[in-house]
Amino acid sequence: MSKFKNINTALIHGGISTDARTGAVNVPIYQTSTYQQDGLGKMRGYEYTRTGNPTREALEALIAELEEGYAGFAFASGMAAITAVLSLLHSGDRVLISSNVYGGTFRVLDKIFQHFQIYYTIANTADLNAFEQEITPDVKAVIIESPANPLMTVTDIQAISAISHQHDLLVIVDNTFMTPYLQKPLTLGADIVVHSATKYLGGHSDVVAGLAVVSTKELAEKIAFIQNSTGGVLPPFDSFLLIRGIKTLGVRMDRHVQNAEKTAAFLKAHKAVKQVYYPGLKESQGYSVNQKQARNGGVMISFELYENYDIQKFFESLKLIMLAESLGGVESLICHPSTMTHASIPADIRKQVGITDGLIRLSVGIEEIEDIIADLQQAIAESEVM
Ligand SMILES: Cc1ncc(COP(=O)(O)O)c(C=O)c1O
Repeated sequence: MSKFKNINTALIHGGISTDARTGAVNVPIYQTSTYQQDGLGKMRGYEYTRTGNPTREALEALIAELEEGYAGFAFASGMAAITAVLSLLHSGDRVLISSNVYGGTFRVLDKIFQHFQIYYTIANTADLNAFEQEITPDVKAVIIESPANPLMTVTDIQAISAISHQHDLLVIVDNTFMTPYLQKPLTLGADIVVHSATKYLGGHSDVVAGLAVVSTKELAEKIAFIQNSTGGVLPPFDSFLLIRGIKTLGVRMDRHVQNAEKTAAFLKAHKAVKQVYYPGLKESQGYSVNQKQARNGGVMISFELYENYDIQKFFESLKLIMLAESLGGVESLICHPSTMTHASIPADIRKQVGITDGLIRLSVGIEEIEDIIADLQQAIAESEVM
């Protein structure tokens, strides 16, 4: 539980927000690898930065408070956070993954964890019956993204958590797309939340970082041990940048969502657009579930143009919106999932889960909405094949 009633205040004053020793209103960057000890076994709370660092600790306390968890952990990237969490599993275990999770999550399971006899099954977590059917005795965990990347498929986190707990599964939610400002999976029954903090939490496309928040002391002890043993920790400077980004999360997200809603409405009404995937649209899959578990539909939109529009030409015609991997920065970013973020998923699986070669994913920035829409409008016009 946060000590603040309102998340906008918690974003700024949550966790450890000042420096007790000097009164500095920001936690300094403790750029040190080690700490002097006063005698054998006499430490002042820190011994080595892989194990603990005050700047990282301030960030970890902040994200734990925002997600309403027991403890937080900061890693060198979202993938490092996911890898640390998956390291809770043992050889012979199996994990269920939502059918359109981030390509890197799929890849680490498919290409790394399989070497250690940790297996995965792709499950349709948006369909509760189909999901339950996939729970075999070796299944020990489930990883959900809601909305899931890149088709914005919504999963009922509370229902999946309830079913999973009947089978003693660990419920892991990647909350990158929503952030605790829009959705708090631990309050819906999940056990662990992970983030690519590179995205909205950092918010400025200038830091790569990952976070994990756990719901219990027991999980906290295990993840702390894995974090220290495997060592993919977030450096002090990057921890500072992330704290700085999180302070403005609320105002950024409000503006991002406002722009996303207008962009989704524009795309939906456009004659060139075959399909729009945005959980904020009433007719979208999972709209009511998303309304129940999140503040709104978030910022990410995917869409497809009709065949008489050349998507290569569309991408090349954009003047303001940048073609780039990643999302969540103040600037609008666009990508082509099948050749970029989801290229590590084999073509047959991409096809099976609906990630077509015509799919376009847009992270709507906080620029003036008129400018975003005008850029999309002119690029669509340019890309029309006569
Ligand atoms: C939903 C999601 N989870 C995890 C990751 C991996 O995070 P990182 O790139 O910080 O390692 C990404 C990256 O794009 C992502 O979009």
